[in-house]
Amino acid sequence: MTMSPAKITSEQEDQMFRLLRQLDLEPDASQRVMSAATGVSLGRLNALIKQATDAGWVKITDRNGPDKRARHSYAITARGAGEKNRLTTQFLNRKLAEYDALHGELTGTASGLSPLSNRTKLMQNDLAPIPELFVSYESAQKLKIEAGNLTSHDLTPRQICDLELLMNGGFNPLKGFLSEEDYNGVVENLRLADGTLWPMPITLDVSEDFAKGIEAGQDIALRDQEGVILATMTITDKWEPNKAREAEKVFGADDDKHPAVNYLHNQAGKIYLGGPVTGIQQPVHYDFRGRRDTPNELRAYFRKMGWRKVVAFQTRNPLHRAHQELTFRAARESQANLLIHPVVGLTKPGDVDHFTRVRCYEAVLDKYPQSTTSMSLLNLAMRMAGPREAVWHGLIRKNHGCTHFIVGRDHAGPGNNKDGVDFYGPYEAQDLFREHQEEMGIKMVDFKHMVWVAERAQYEAMDEIKDKDDVTILNISGTELRRRLSEGLDIPEWFSFPEVVKELRRTKPPRSNQGFTVFFTGFSGSGKSTIANALMVKLMEMGGRPVTLLDGDIVRKNLSSELGFSKEHRDLNIRRIGYVASEITKNGGIAICAPIAPYATTRRAVREDIEDFGAFIEVHVATSIEECERRDRKGLYKLAREGKIKEFTGISDPYDVPVDPELRVETEGTDVDNCAHQVILKLESMGLIAGN
Ligand code: PPS
Repeated sequence: MTMSPAKITSEQEDQMFRLLRQLDLEPDASQRVMSAATGVSLGRLNALIKQATDAGWVKITDRNGPDKRARHSYAITARGAGEKNRLTTQFLNRKLAEYDALHGELTGTASGLSPLSNRTKLMQNDLAPIPELFVSYESAQKLKIEAGNLTSHDLTPRQICDLELLMNGGFNPLKGFLSEEDYNGVVENLRLADGTLWPMPITLDVSEDFAKGIEAGQDIALRDQEGVILATMTITDKWEPNKAREAEKVFGADDDKHPAVNYLHNQAGKIYLGGPVTGIQQPVHYDFRGRRDTPNELRAYFRKMGWRKVVAFQTRNPLHRAHQELTFRAARESQANLLIHPVVGLTKPGDVDHFTRVRCYEAVLDKYPQSTTSMSLLNLAMRMAGPREAVWHGLIRKNHGCTHFIVGRDHAGPGNNKDGVDFYGPYEAQDLFREHQEEMGIKMVDFKHMVWVAERAQYEAMDEIKDKDDVTILNISGTELRRRLSEGLDIPEWFSFPEVVKELRRTKPPRSNQGFTVFFTGFSGSGKSTIANALMVKLMEMGGRPVTLLDGDIVRKNLSSELGFSKEHRDLNIRRIGYVASEITKNGGIAICAPIAPYATTRRAVREDIEDFGAFIEVHVATSIEECERRDRKGLYKLAREGKIKEFTGISDPYDVPVDPELRVETEGTDVDNCAHQVILKLESMGLIAGN
């Protein structure tokens, strides 16, 4: 009897899958153990090993030990690990198809399981483990040594978050950073090339310089910021994306007021690399370790607790009473247990830092019944992409074993666009989620807008209150809460828990006790340094906080002496100033900066760095270039005109005039004291210095 070629192929593939799995688990086992575990004869095993080494999936070295049965040492390579993942998927699909056929034979009906698209849905229901991209501990040790010789890429904080969720199955079914074909599908219609729903491009962006040395087919090592190798990646694709198109399609507008669009244009590298990833180790976290769970850890926990239905609550904000009420309701409505699943990776610039938030969550956790509620931290880098983000969040929660997901009004909204209106409609996220929830295998619980009804002293859903005109409805918006915190005003008990308010006040004292940065920008000779000096003296006279002046010339002497005036060098200079100012601000001091800082994008980046810790006041010293040239205090304009100084701002180099700085001061016809006083008044109006 002759076998059909297809049959031979699948049998051989299954054997290869078993061999690679075995080599991953026990790379140093003897051939006898291997043949038993793989279920093939010694002869067949040798043929398989040869095939695997020829293909570059396995490396063999001589061990020269006394034990004749274990003369060789085997190591699965990065490519072999990728092949193992591919064969695992194939193996699973085949088994599912066999199951389907068997089901049909026994019952006369289809099982309803379509292997490819519903695979995770099936696993979801019984909380079986989902695939991870890690190799075994033994293989990881070997792979790590081998990867030490590869070209390596130092991951950015966002890429580390993405990689963690790729490796631990949080981004299942992705097997690595998107290929160009998958990327195009995701950008255009929220689908990978094979049709699977996936709304967010997970891409590895690198600089042009780095990309020059990379070829398709090459393996690279991916390192964290301390240089630890977390994974290897087999490059399949390298391309220059159309970022404007990505911004339009994924985030709804090519407007860099959107934090992710700003990131895309001003921080992300120009080139994308795609290809499967082989996980060596998880990124290390030193904070709240006991509160972080991988998808499989959460699945195991739900299994152990017998939680069949779990509703997840995503948040990047502290929890107040309204949140508690709505999460209670969501759990009750869906008859499910509750998972508080806050994001602790990267959220919107300016958010309350995750350390404070987690302390706040811990403070309210005991207000929930312990047997029905759990909390776990998710190291996700959010993109604030509204509707697409909601679908993405849902898929991630499904991978974490949840069956329901709460989607609120303006879910993951990035705030206003350049015209001052919201990027997305308030219910666009809910609509998109609803459209896809069947396919996603996780149900949406839509968020109720909860308000405090004073007469009944309880939270109620706004749309369910029948006697709106006869009762007092109270609510405190996020902006109002920030104002009350920054001005040290009362925060009522009906709004939040005393423990939470105490925690928030501890990290955010009233503005008059916080650090801040005054950032002067303007042409050389515009008067920045003079006004900055006067301001410094006035602030020192007031006392209370240490004041540091980071003047352009001083910085260039002490911090940036090796830099010139190219765009690259100017940016580096300003980022250094921003870094020092953010440290000063974080520690409660006042930083006064006075560089030219000609580029708007760099000024914005510095603002973002600082606003995490305190206020940033941009002051445009708006002296015209003609006046600066007329004054020519240092004689530099003359030299610039004669071409003796190149790239001189305003003469032969650009200056982006600030569009809406906190303050613009005109120096022509106004004395220095008055200019400095205008800044003092501004600081007072912002609550940064207490009035007399
Ligand atoms: S930047 O663009 O913000 O990094 O420049 P900055 O460090 O503030 O510049 C400090 C002073 O350097 C002198 N200088 C020049 N300025 C502009 N363009 C060119 N090519 C240049 N070469 C030297 C200039 O006096 C700046 O002084 P002030 O007056 O402090 O702005």
